[in-house]
Amino acid sequence: MARVLVTRHLPDGGLDPLYARGHEVVVRDEDVPFGPAALAEAAGAADGIVCLLTDRIDDRVLSSGAAGRLRVVANVAVGYDNIDVVAAARLGIAVCNTPGVLDETTADLAFLLILASARLASTAERDLRAGAWPGWGITQYLGEDVHGAVLGLVGYGRIGRAVARRAEGFGMDVLHHCRTDTGLPGYVGSLDELLARSDAVSLHVPLTESTRHLVGPRELAGMKPTAVLVNTARGPVVDEEALAAALESGALFAAGLDVYEGEPAVSPRLLAAPRTVLLPHIGSATRVTRTRMATMACEAVCAVLAGETPPNLVAAPAP
Ligand code: GLV
Repeated sequence: MARVLVTRHLPDGGLDPLYARGHEVVVRDEDVPFGPAALAEAAGAADGIVCLLTDRIDDRVLSSGAAGRLRVVANVAVGYDNIDVVAAARLGIAVCNTPGVLDETTADLAFLLILASARLASTAERDLRAGAWPGWGITQYLGEDVHGAVLGLVGYGRIGRAVARRAEGFGMDVLHHCRTDTGLPGYVGSLDELLARSDAVSLHVPLTESTRHLVGPRELAGMKPTAVLVNTARGPVVDEEALAAALESGALFAAGLDVYEGEPAVSPRLLAAPRTVLLPHIGSATRVTRTRMATMACEAVCAVLAGETPPNLVAAPAP
């Protein structure tokens, strides 16, 4: 029996795989992230950790226990930029994530943001709720059409492809860009070209040093003034100040965001920027999907602790 730390509450049933294997499960009482010192202290007594994207799993956390004790960290998220995978490999700790189970749910939300931003849904609803709607007017809230438009996907992994499938139903012309040529129809080798040709751009890349501020002032300036930008990936992929400036000046029509550079803080300038739809990182937030993610992370912990290799291993311990 091993000791598994679960850093925050998980959906009902998510912990079942750990209990079924008879592990000792230590779940934090409060549903807020640990502070760095408390996280390191709790991690020091664990053989496995199930964590969330709000936990910074750095070298200090990974090396807090007796050497060799901590064997696995499983992130209940597909992105794992919150984990120092290099340190984990060096320390012999496996790192796992939850790919596959959240693709369709996240793609639904990306499409929601494409539609809502292009049709100015949040701006219009805000006015209505504030009693600021004077009654129907033929020139009010004029958005951009989504049907028949060009959709540019930056990143073409599982979630990007799930968004592309939805776009087919809207008669969209779908382009995609990623570092390696997919050889598939719609591939555009240059990000600048994709941005210049697209009416809606949706980001589906992981956060790495090469994707940090991938969309900055220069890239935004190269987009159509009628275009919308959607980000359900990670906040720092977009330079938020530059995005706010583009919205303010009208250089970009609208933006739909689910992720932010300094979560949970959101740039005041972005909050005040016009024609935005801003959601609080709910891309995978359906009951079924969040439960599947939790179960998948816990199963991965069980597998590693049993000496097996789980399918969702993102970083194996250095040999
Ligand atoms: C959510 O943002 C995830 O990476 O799963």
